[in-house]
Amino acid sequence: MKKTLIVGNWKMHLNTQQASLLVRRLGERVPQHRDIETVLAPSMLTLQPISLEVDRRKFRLAAQNANAQDLGSLTGEVSFAMLSGLVHYGIIGHSERRKYFAETNKDVRAKVAAAVRNEITPIICVGETRVERTNHETKQVVREQVVTALRDLTGPEAAEVVIAYEPVWAIGAGRPASAAAITEVVAYIRLIIEGQFGKNVADAVRILYGGSVEPDFVANILSIDGVDGFLVGGASLNYQQFADIVTKAHQLAAAKEQHA
Ligand code: PGA
Repeated sequence: MKKTLIVGNWKMHLNTQQASLLVRRLGERVPQHRDIETVLAPSMLTLQPISLEVDRRKFRLAAQNANAQDLGSLTGEVSFAMLSGLVHYGIIGHSERRKYFAETNKDVRAKVAAAVRNEITPIICVGETRVERTNHETKQVVREQVVTALRDLTGPEAAEVVIAYEPVWAIGAGRPASAAAITEVVAYIRLIIEGQFGKNVADAVRILYGGSVEPDFVANILSIDGVDGFLVGGASLNYQQFADIVTKAHQLAAAKEQHA
């Protein structure tokens, strides 16, 4: 059985001291679970100090972004090559990067290739805007995002990636997308990957849901067929809420295993 994957994206929050405090609090409240993989994505600045403090049996680290080049005259940038060994995962193509930093599907594709080449597992964010949903373009948009992002990968490489379905309109909205909407798009993402790489790869890929995930919604969303975990924004900055999300996911996984 796949472990449930829960990723906390801290975005541009928390200085070094605050990040360190949050990690300590989480360490006290989040036990090591056999069936859960918990990942923290602090800012680029705090990744290094956090890596020295964090209990690696409980938490893995993710970068929120990095440059697709391994090195070069690119003032202000940090590469996946530099992050190699420091992080397990790299979040790529988050909607905020697409919106505020004009990242295209082509950029995402190059970053996915860079992450894989540097032994970092990509967490590729896809999802439609409200306008795209209203215009019935969700499938078309998500298809283009997924197909382009995975284009440079081999089957075995693609099998390792994580896709986060994050409908843009549900991010920071206080309410996640409906179970019906999530079910439909997650199934569609697997279908796309099956078309590209075959069924074994499609089944192996982990697909997360992201957008206003809070403890109260965990059971509902994780019960959806094909949802393997969460990408959490706002609630990951609150140690109680994030620990609750992990606990609820663990309870659900344990109950599922009992019934299996
Ligand atoms: P949210 O953010 O949980 O605050 O909605 C999710 C995300 O942007 O990844």
